[in-house]
Amino acid sequence: MRMRKKAHLDRRLARQSALLVERPEDCRGRWRELLPGCGEVRLELGCGKGRFTVETARREPQVLFVAVERVADAMIVAMERAGAAGAENIRFIDADARALGEWFAPGEVSRIYLNFSDPWPSSRQAKRRLTHPDFLRRYADALAPGGEIHFKTDNQDLFTWSLFQFPKAGYAVEQVTRDLHGGGVNGVMTDYEEKFYREGKPICRCVAVKGETLSARLTLARPRPEHEGQVWAYRRRFLDAGEPCVGAAGLETAEDYEAWRVAAAGEAEAEAVKGITFIALDEAGEMVGAVRVRQSPEGEWETSGGQVAFSVRPDLRRRGYATELLGLALAYCREELGLERARLCCRDDDAAAIRTIRHYKAALEDRAADSQGRLTRRYLVTL
Ligand SMILES: C[S@@+](CC[C@H](N)C(=O)[O-])C[C@H]1O[C@@H](n2cnc3c(N)ncnc32)[C@H](O)[C@@H]1O
Repeated sequence: MRMRKKAHLDRRLARQSALLVERPEDCRGRWRELLPGCGEVRLELGCGKGRFTVETARREPQVLFVAVERVADAMIVAMERAGAAGAENIRFIDADARALGEWFAPGEVSRIYLNFSDPWPSSRQAKRRLTHPDFLRRYADALAPGGEIHFKTDNQDLFTWSLFQFPKAGYAVEQVTRDLHGGGVNGVMTDYEEKFYREGKPICRCVAVKGETLSARLTLARPRPEHEGQVWAYRRRFLDAGEPCVGAAGLETAEDYEAWRVAAAGEAEAEAVKGITFIALDEAGEMVGAVRVRQSPEGEWETSGGQVAFSVRPDLRRRGYATELLGLALAYCREELGLERARLCCRDDDAAAIRTIRHYKAALEDRAADSQGRLTRRYLVTL
């Protein structure tokens, strides 16, 4: 019986062979040649029965869509749909998306769709999730700078978890919604999505944008006793440069590490505005930056210096660390503090800080003098 089923599948696949790329590694760096006038290459990973890819490809004939699916029984349905639609701009790869780097040259892909990826709910299986940082880094290699991942799911837990993974892998997260179709059908639906929509399940969606210089090099940590050496070395660099350690809870004037650490961690009793200072460590465990996240309710930070303050070590600037650091802090605001927006402030003449803040599509609210009379910009970021 199984043999007959397999033979039947093989015959169906053979009929659609023009759409199947059997050796995708041979197309590496040359995918655009498959479609005359091709403007860009996009992927759908785990396309299932292909409703989304076939309809999106119909709407955008100058885009080459490459649909990846490791279950041939589902993919053949997608291929037959593409064949019936006469689509010339779709190709299929019957394999595990994990091998993506062998198929696409760096920067060859402009967008990746992850639609209703399997949630793999057990933490032991987290590595199989298509939004695991291991996968996200593989995608980053294939994506052009500014390339996007469009992620949709009905699974709230997977969505929340994924929002926290994107910044770790060097992406800025935008257009976050937990009810995509709340105001009526929005965009092309997948097969799974249509079913969930009919059941009244809200659909989550976000867009993760690959940064130009980001590669997930940093981790945030609460300062601990064993960080004393790194923290003092960081302080020394600022003292030498004659700069305040913004976002480091007054580190430049601190004399006792443990006293500073307790206050920085928000453990001191009498703080007017509660907050936590994180230190940002690179892969070698060296302190690259500091960021302070205020935990006070929105009403309180309306009038304060904003939700997040940060700095990068003076000798390590212009390497994308500030953007990565801010992305991690904003993810913390969204995931741990449950905020939907955050205010960010910077000096009006601080071009580097302005660039970093605008990377996260922050909207300029106003300019006002701060308590010391310096002109300050106030931005609002939707998380
Ligand atoms: C829940 S289905 C969703 C299908 C389709 N995207 C939709 O929304 O209707 C997830 C699909 O992803 C495929 N998939 C999961 N992990 C994959 C991987 N690592 N590589 C390729 N396909 C994968 C599964 O075989 C399955 O068909």
